[in-house]
Amino acid sequence: MKKELAILGIESTCDETSAALLIGGRELVSNVIYSQIEEHKKYHGVVPELASRAHAAKIATVINEALGNHPLDYVAFASGPGLPGGLMVGRVAAQTLAEFKQVPLIGVNHLEGHLFACDFEGTTAQERLQFPLIALVVSGGHTELWYVKGYGNYKVLGRTRDDAAGEAFDKVAKLLGLAYPGGPQVSKQALSGRRDAIAFPRPLLPGTWEFSFSGLKTAVSYYLRDHQTPNIPDVCASFEQAVVDTLVTKTLLAVTKYKVKSIAVGGGVAANTLLRETMQARAGAKGINVRFVERKLSSDNAAMIALAAYKKIQYAQASGKPLKDNINIDPNMKVRSWGK
Ligand code: KG4
Ligand code: ZN
Repeated sequence: MKKELAILGIESTCDETSAALLIGGRELVSNVIYSQIEEHKKYHGVVPELASRAHAAKIATVINEALGNHPLDYVAFASGPGLPGGLMVGRVAAQTLAEFKQVPLIGVNHLEGHLFACDFEGTTAQERLQFPLIALVVSGGHTELWYVKGYGNYKVLGRTRDDAAGEAFDKVAKLLGLAYPGGPQVSKQALSGRRDAIAFPRPLLPGTWEFSFSGLKTAVSYYLRDHQTPNIPDVCASFEQAVVDTLVTKTLLAVTKYKVKSIAVGGGVAANTLLRETMQARAGAKGINVRFVERKLSSDNAAMIALAAYKKIQYAQASGKPLKDNINIDPNMKVRSWGK
């Protein structure tokens, strides 16, 4: 009988310390996530030094809880992109465990993880993505559009030039005195607001696949400067609509250009209900299938890192090519293809 690989994934790129055990690329035995939100809340954003300290304090406990006494074949960790201190903690923990258990160590691109998270449903991973597809990876640190031909086969079409979409939500929340992380707070306020109340810009940047959300954030700050008693729900609803229109419009333009029939959306902002509904409706009207990451796996977690590692191992074994293991940490790591 073929051996079912046991992979321990480790994630520490930003403000979640997480470890997950994945068996046979399918069965998610554990996915322990320690969120540092409480530590960063009063600063309205992630403070790198606090994040590193919290990762260092929690990582051993999180790994222990995720792994227990289970046998292990590989250790995988997110080697970038991310905050240098957090990446360092993840690497040291992963390498120590791998050497202690005498198993190989694999580095995984965190953003690839966000895409692979779309393959999970509950505690099971299956090949749900339908290639070729356009992927929208949208989080607090990144907003990227990729043309994806298969697992490990990417062409990055565009990234954000400045703020990521999640970062714009967080900064607008801060301007409005709402709590961190801003995405869920802004969405909650938006429920009772009018989406057409304020004509915020849609930064479409025609002719490029890039994004830019800092101007939109500035438009909100000017609006607040010029209105003594703004209607907060209206500001939130109009801002959220502008972000969602921009993300959906650009994704659908890429779908048309690259003639694909499928879209995948991953990352923290993929939890946004308006984004989910709007993408589903507008893509659905064109006969395009959309796979969203499940909400509970949309923010940072180690299950997605373990699954990305599994796909890499599988590819290396099937192709006879060496595993591209990427174990050097790189805070600015770009997505690179490793498969066909
Ligand atoms: O993927 P993630 O956990 O961390 C990064 O890799 O950055 O994403 C966190 C980001 C935060 O900016 C947060 O405000 C945003 O995702 N977010 C949302 C929602 N839930 C989380 N943004 C909009 N709507 C949401 N419901
Ligand atoms: Zn992330």
